[in-house]
Amino acid sequence: MKKILVIHGPNLNLLGKREPEIYGTVTLKKINESLKKMAATHRVAVEFFQSDHEGEIVSKIGASVGTVDAIVINPAAYTHTSVAIRDAVAAVKVPVIEVHLSNIYSREPFRHESLVAPVAVGQISGFGQESYELGFLAALELAGAGKSGKRDAK
Ligand code: DQA
Repeated sequence: MKKILVIHGPNLNLLGKREPEIYGTVTLKKINESLKKMAATHRVAVEFFQSDHEGEIVSKIGASVGTVDAIVINPAAYTHTSVAIRDAVAAVKVPVIEVHLSNIYSREPFRHESLVAPVAVGQISGFGQESYELGFLAALELAGAGKSGKRDAK
């Protein structure tokens, strides 16, 4: 069975209460539940990991080699600062999709640069919960478990 890892960076555990005018009122639990349903529909395994700690996220990405077929990550504030997370993504050769709830390009200038995006397969930004769902669809494709994978299997 293919496996997709979903990584949530710092402060995303606070979703629902955190700056709802920017991030909406959806909780992390709700986002994970929706991805869990998508995983079940496509018969893939999914693992969720949230951490406020850069090193833990780096270690989680490093441990994904050989055990995970694609990663969806919202690096949150580390998007804009973490050379270590970028290097981990570049090192593992597991396809990575970067997602953001808000449109980082319509916000403060310091959010306009992502250190992770150049080493990710792609980035989805600005669609709220749907950013994760669109990212998950992309991960399914990259893991070979999406629509085109199913077509190939027939
Ligand atoms: C975020 C955008 C980041 O700039 C911010 O630091 C976050 C959340 C988003 O999902 O919109 O924590 O990644």
